[in-house]
Amino acid sequence: METANLKVFRYQPGMDAPVYRDYDVGFQKDLSVLKALFLIADTHEDPPAFRRYCCNRGQCASCVMTINGRMRRACATQLQKETTLEPAYGYPVIRDLVVDFGRKVFSPPDHYTKLMEGSLVLKPPRRKFRKERSVQLSLREDICRRCESKECVEACWLSKMENLEDQFGRRLGRNASVDQLICVQCAEAFCAESCPTGAIAIRQGSVMGINPLLCIGCGICMDHCPHGAIFLNIERGNAVKCDLCEGKPACAQICPHGALQVFNL
Ligand code: SF4
Ligand code: SF4
Ligand code: SF4
Ligand code: FES
Repeated sequence: METANLKVFRYQPGMDAPVYRDYDVGFQKDLSVLKALFLIADTHEDPPAFRRYCCNRGQCASCVMTINGRMRRACATQLQKETTLEPAYGYPVIRDLVVDFGRKVFSPPDHYTKLMEGSLVLKPPRRKFRKERSVQLSLREDICRRCESKECVEACWLSKMENLEDQFGRRLGRNASVDQLICVQCAEAFCAESCPTGAIAIRQGSVMGINPLLCIGCGICMDHCPHGAIFLNIERGNAVKCDLCEGKPACAQICPHGALQVFNL
C-alpha cells in the first residue's frame, strides 16, 4: 500500500521552539486530512493534538489548520502524499495543531512569535497579488447629493450587504454611506495578499471577489483592506465585499443622479 508522509508541527507552552515530526499513514484516495489525523492517533504512540470534528462536513470551521501553507478545513481537504500540517495562522497555539480561535493576534512581527504567557503564534505569509486594473466603480462626490432615501445603500443591502459587521465588530446599518461599501479594486490588493486560504481572487471578468467555499471567516483580510471595504457576514461566518455586482452594480443602476460610475480603464 502507498504511504503518505505528514510533517506535523508540535509545540506546547514551555518548549523553546516548535518541532516538526514525521508520521506515515496508508495513502487512500479521498482520505481527508482530518481522517488521517485520526489514523495517526490510533496507530502512533505520540500523536499530535488536534481538534476533534464537530460537523465533519466543511461547515463549522472548527477543524481549520494550515495545510501545505494555506489555511483549510481539515475535514474537507484531501490528503496529499506529502503534507505539512501547522496550526491556523494568527491564533495562539494551545498545543500542536490546537489554537485559541477566541483570540486573534493582529500582525505578529515574525514567522513564530512567542506571546507573554508562553504560547506562540504563526504569522500568515504575504503573497504578492498584482493585477491590471481594468474596471473600477467610483462615487462622484461632485454629483452625489447625499439623498436621505439612500437608494444606493438600499440596493446594495438587498443585493448582498445584510447581516454584516465591520472589522471592529460594529453592525453595518442601512445608515451606512455607499462609499463605505465600494471596493476600489486596488491593483495592489492587500486583501488578496493577506488571505491565508487564497479565497480572494479575480472572479468575474477582472473584478476581484471572495470565493465563499474557500473563505473561513478568519477576518485577516478585513484588517488589511485600507478602505475598510470587507465585512463579515455574521450569519454565514464568511467575508463579503463589493464585487461590482458581477459587472452590473445595483447601486449605480438605481442612483437617480448617476453619481456612481463604472470606469473601464
Ligand atoms: S475572511 Fe478574508 S482572509 Fe479570511 S479566509 Fe475569508 S477572504 Fe480570506
Ligand atoms: S477589498 Fe479593500 S484591499 Fe481589497 S481590493 Fe477592495 S479596496 Fe482594495
Ligand atoms: S457594486 Fe454592488 S456590491 Fe458594490 S457597492 Fe454597489 S451594490 Fe454594493
Ligand atoms: S469539522 Fe466542521 S468544518 Fe471540519
